[in-house]
Amino acid sequence: MRIAVLTSGGDAPGMNAAVRAVVRTAAAQGIETFGVRHGFTGLISGDFLALGARDVGGIIHRGGTILGTTRCAQLRFEAGQDAAIRQLRRHGIDALIVIGGNGSQMGSLALSRKSVPVIGVASTIDNDLAGTDITIGATTALDTALEAIDRLRTTASSHHRAFLVETMGRHCGYLALMAGIAGGAEVIVIPEAECGPQDVAAELRDAFRRGKSHAFVVVAEGARNHADALLRYFNEHTEFLGFELRATRLGHVQRGGPPGAFDRLLATQLGAGALERAVAGKFGVIMGMRAGKVEAAPLSCASEIKPLDLSLLQLAKTLAR
Ligand code: F6P
Repeated sequence: MRIAVLTSGGDAPGMNAAVRAVVRTAAAQGIETFGVRHGFTGLISGDFLALGARDVGGIIHRGGTILGTTRCAQLRFEAGQDAAIRQLRRHGIDALIVIGGNGSQMGSLALSRKSVPVIGVASTIDNDLAGTDITIGATTALDTALEAIDRLRTTASSHHRAFLVETMGRHCGYLALMAGIAGGAEVIVIPEAECGPQDVAAELRDAFRRGKSHAFVVVAEGARNHADALLRYFNEHTEFLGFELRATRLGHVQRGGPPGAFDRLLATQLGAGALERAVAGKFGVIMGMRAGKVEAAPLSCASEIKPLDLSLLQLAKTLAR
């Protein structure tokens, strides 16, 4: 048997640990593995490299992906998909393992619908893939966001200031919600719930009135009232509000750095699980974790955004008192 593995979409801490798990569990069974460089782009152009157990040494603790990654627009079209299929045939690949998030797994789904034996591995810092409780990279990104919030809090307290922290999360407020709760934010603004600039201002003002030495709003980049909209409002109403709002965009910092223990373990289990399914000949699924167990969900999950538990937003409000 011959398998190929690629990483696709936004990188996530833990992708390397997943690649390592695929390669080494394959090697243990005498299965040949090829890494595909630069995601689906490399698949279409035939950028394959043989990977043995030694080639994935010293990577479990490294962020990013040794294989490289892209967001490949070509794969959305028949021509790109057919070119990818030709390369898989040319290299005699019996199974393709795709480590990535929603967009990438939509690519996996398209190939699967053309009878390519594909298995996805759920990986994105956004944790917005349906079919899994958690995705590779999300908890490390969350810890990174939290570290920044903790650092900002000390300066915010010293100066008696209000801060806005913007997290990643295009369609899903997971990172903002969790970082907001764990970081003790006064307000959390996410795409899943309406929260206008006036509401944010009222909450922050009230926090100071209650005697707080600082006030925080954590905003997901994908929220309708995103960082720019809130800053505009605060700049226009500084005098009326009586305080300014300082902003920090965490941006790609959240995708960098070494994976934490949870992500290394999750990636290892999902990578090994993907290989196991490939050997069993069970394709068309995404490997994820549900209720603490490695589980396979249909690839069609890639077209859904996982809903957030919005009761946590209310809890955050209560705890910010
Ligand atoms: O990978 C997910 C993600 O980090 C989103 O949170 C973010 O909106 C997007 O990728 C940024 O993508 P890019 O790195 O292509 O700008």
